[in-house]
Parts: sequence; C-alpha cells; structure tokens
Amino acid sequence: MKDKIYRVAILGCRGRGRAAALAYHDHPRTQIVSLCDLVQERLDNLGTELDVPAQYTDLDQMIQENEPDIVAIPTGTEFHYDLCMRVLEHGVHIEVEKPMCVDLIQADAVMAKAESKKCKVAVHHQGRVGPGMLALQRAVDQGKIGQIRYLYGSGKGYYGGYGLMNIGTHMINNMLRFGQQCHSVVTQATTNGRPIQPTDVVPSPSGMGTIAGEYISATFQFTGNVTGTLLQHRFDQMDTSAYVMEILGSEGRLFWKGDQAWWLPQPHYLPDRQWEALEPVFSDDYQRGNRSDASDFGFVDEYVRTLDDDDQHQCSGYQGRHVLEIMMGIFESAAYGIRVDLPQKDRQHPLLRWRADRHSNEELGDLDLLPRDYSSWLSRQGIERF
Ligand SMILES: NC(=O)c1ccc[n+]([C@@H]2O[C@H](COP(=O)([O-])OP(=O)(O)OC[C@H]3O[C@@H](n4cnc5c(N)ncnc54)[C@H](O)[C@@H]3O)[C@@H](O)[C@H]2O)c1
Repeated sequence: MKDKIYRVAILGCRGRGRAAALAYHDHPRTQIVSLCDLVQERLDNLGTELDVPAQYTDLDQMIQENEPDIVAIPTGTEFHYDLCMRVLEHGVHIEVEKPMCVDLIQADAVMAKAESKKCKVAVHHQGRVGPGMLALQRAVDQGKIGQIRYLYGSGKGYYGGYGLMNIGTHMINNMLRFGQQCHSVVTQATTNGRPIQPTDVVPSPSGMGTIAGEYISATFQFTGNVTGTLLQHRFDQMDTSAYVMEILGSEGRLFWKGDQAWWLPQPHYLPDRQWEALEPVFSDDYQRGNRSDASDFGFVDEYVRTLDDDDQHQCSGYQGRHVLEIMMGIFESAAYGIRVDLPQKDRQHPLLRWRADRHSNEELGDLDLLPRDYSSWLSRQGIERF
C-alpha cells in the first residue's frame, strides 16, 4: 500500500487550485491526472504549467473518465456544498477549501454522504499541518510547556464576522489540534460600538454565508480545563502580523506565526527572559526547492498517510464541521447573549433564526443583497478603509 501513487483531480484552477496542484505535483506519492474548470484559459494555464493534458469543463465526465482517488475542490465557498455532494456521489475522496460549508445543515449532509459512500473528507486548513504548527506539537510532546491551560488566537483585521468565516476557521482548527474538542462558547460581538442587533445580520463577502459583528471576542471551553480566546476585530488597515496563536502551559508558552514557532521557557512574561526560536518541522519528502507551500505540502502528505492507514486526516471533514459548529456557536452566543453548549441540536444558521425570532419578516424584509468583493462590501457598511 505504501508505494501506491494516489490519482488526484483538481476541480477549480484559479489561485487556490494552483496552490493545491503544486503540492500534489511535488509530492512523490500523488499524481495530478486531470483538471476541471469552467474557464478554458485557466485550464490552459495550469495544464501547461504542470503538464496535465486531461482537461475538462464537466466534473462528472472528468471523474468517470479519469477515476481519481481524490478530487480537490478549491472553489468559492458558496459552491462547496453542491460540488462536494456531486463529487462524493461518484464515491471519490475529497478535499475542499475552507470554510467547509456555510452552515451546519450543509456540513451534516456532506458528512452523511461521505459516510454512505465510504469516502474521506478533508478541509484545506493547511496551517494545522504546516512547519510552525508541527514545531509546536513537537514542543508539547517533549513536555516543554507542561500542561496546556489556555489558547489565544487573532485574525488579520477583517470585519469580525467575515474574518471569523474566512480566517477564524483556520485558527479554530489550529486550536483544536491542542484543545481537542470545544464544549461551549461565550461571545461578545459589537457593531458601531454597541452589541449586535438583528439588523446587523448580513450576507458575508466572498460567499461565506450569513454573518454579523464588526468586532468579535469569543471564549472557548476545550477538553479538560483548557480554555481559549479568539479575537476577530476589524482594524482600520489589514495587518497580517496580527494573525498569531499562543499556547499557555503550566511551565512555558509557545507562539505560532505561519511557518515559525517560538518557546518561552516559563509560564509568565518577565522582561529578562527571551523567547527561543524552535526549528520548523517539515514533512519528510518536502524539498526546500519545491514550488509548493510547505503547509500545502504537509496537507497532501497527511492525506497520503490517511489513505495508506485508513485513518482520518488531521483536518478531516469531522474537524471542519466541528470548526463550523464553533463558528455558528460564536454567532449564536453573541446574538442571544447566552453560553452555547456544543454540538448544538438546532443545525439552522443561528443568525437567520435570531432574525426570524425577533422580527417578523415583514418588518425586517429580506437580507440586503451586498457585493461579493470585500472592499465594495465594506463601502456598503460605510467603511472606506481596508
Ligand atoms: N486555505 C487557504 O489558505 C485559503 C486562502 C485563500 C482562499 N481560500 C479559500 O479558497 C476558496 C476560493 O479559492 P479561489 O480564490 O481559488 O477561488 P476562485 O473563485 O477564484 O476560483 C475558483 C475556480 O473554480 C472554478 N469553478 C467554479 N465552479 C466550478 C465548476 N462547477 N466546475 C468547474 N470549475 C468550477 C472557477 O471557474 C474558478 O476558476 C474559498 O473557499 C476561500 O475561502 C483558502
């Protein structure tokens, strides 16, 4: 089994499709057998770059003719549900970009379909298996910080609710690596300096479902006594340096930023103690000269292990759905002013339920149609800085 080459098809050949394709192309145990896109120019570009002649505009035809083991679905989020369901119908393993879906009803249906077809689902939260996160894991395993007590994560400054769906999804998935299961969520969310109201519920930019809240501060109770905080605050200007995670342990701290990681050999900050850089951990087959991103490669490497061992991916569909439970729990807690215990029984989008509960549809009307593009969307909220 360990010498099988897994056949991979890429469904969606723009930015994230190329990133995924480079990783599958570089990995010695995977081979890209076909590409699919609705736009011929994108097929031509990626097909030429990676020398993949089998190109399709119809995904069903592609799967029937090429029989891939895995189909990667790097498309806009609003298409994830339909495309996952269509591909799984063929009995093929999938990976889908993050966030997995836009609500829990969709995520449940995808996982039910995958189970009925005996297929695996992975969600492309590649940071969890990247060199920085693997360095944190090694430090935890070596006992460098003792017992984990607390996890902290922040976004990059997008409008809170959108930042949660777009970037928070990665951070929550990272946290789950160390917190295991999230049992409950408590949130504060404000818009224009006051708690969110049903009129603040809006369609997300980039097709990421329904959101609310300009500034979101969420707290989590994970397995054991581990708690955590996630900040998704809108900044006047985006700041990717804010996208960090910290782990507080009984004997030390760990800090994550992309491919890099640091260790503070004591639990509390003191000015005379320095953070020590940790050696990043790369997948065995990753070559420094590879064109693929090391985290995307790590994601592919983990998929190969998963299929070899008939195991679940670190970033499995089950984890992706739990991330979505947490995000929906964040919105529900903010809206209703309650602690939300997970997993929630009601799988409807909580913001739509809240809106319907508080106001008859006649009073509030339909949700506004808003631009998909983020800066145009922000302008419609009266915000010109990006
Ligand atoms: N993991 C990450 O780090 C990361 C980073 C940025 C974006 N994303 C996620 O990636 C996704 C967007 O990726 P993108 O920016 O490359 O998307 P995109 O919308 O730019 O490109 C998607 C491509 O898929 C094609 N496509 C759509 N429907 C199709 C169909 N039915 N059949 C064939 N082709 C089809 C489109 O023609 C397009 O070329 C989002 O879910 C976003 O959240 C992830």
